[in-house]
Amino acid sequence: MEHKIVIAIDGYSGCGKSTTAKIVAKTLGYLYIDSGAMYRTVTLYFLENEVDYTQTQEVLKALSHINIHFDYNPDTNKNDTYLNGKNVESEIRKMYISDNVSTISKIPEVRKAMVKFQKNIGAQKGVVMDGRDIGTQVFPDAELKIFMTADVFVRAQRRQMELLAKGEETPLQDIIDNLQKRDHIDTTRAESPLRKADDAFLLDSTYIDIEEQTNFVIKLAKEVAKSVMVNDK
Ligand code: DC
Repeated sequence: MEHKIVIAIDGYSGCGKSTTAKIVAKTLGYLYIDSGAMYRTVTLYFLENEVDYTQTQEVLKALSHINIHFDYNPDTNKNDTYLNGKNVESEIRKMYISDNVSTISKIPEVRKAMVKFQKNIGAQKGVVMDGRDIGTQVFPDAELKIFMTADVFVRAQRRQMELLAKGEETPLQDIIDNLQKRDHIDTTRAESPLRKADDAFLLDSTYIDIEEQTNFVIKLAKEVAKSVMVNDK
């Protein structure tokens, strides 16, 4: 039987991390975990409940009321996110969540709770997790780490198409501003900022399509899994 590994996919906003991660997980028969969806769900809860996130006690109280779970359908390759039993998948992808999520995910207590949760559900091998700090913080020992980047204009165009497909018309400049703002907050925050782990492979998706980027990761994953198996013998 093939050895199962942990694959960490980090990178800037809108590079196609989750699309890549989902296809890689499906191809390898691995579990897919979208860590960004967790931060988006916390953001939705904080906004809906008007949580004063400048107050640590308020943040901790709110976190204790948040229950997140995922429901993955391998037939459609769709991953639904649930907040306290309610399907919030389409809500958390909206622009008002994207506009607030980096601010909420800077909060140390929020990060601590999410990292704990991610470590727990990813404790088994055979996991693909995408995010910003997976290879550096959540799974520093992941056997395969990928760091994704792409030109911001190309990223914004792709995101605009995705939003349009869901009926949300958004000016390109608004998306560029949002991506740049999030990149800035994510890379400069004090708590586990976005950065490429030293042992991560760089994957620039500006000029390649989804098939090429997923093939790149799948090929590496198979090589790594094989070498881990040989080393285990
Ligand atoms: O992957 P995404 O764009 O859905 O993530 C939304 C935000 O969540 C991102 O701008 C920063 C935050 N995030 C994070 O801080 N750490 C992670 N591991 C994943 C996401």
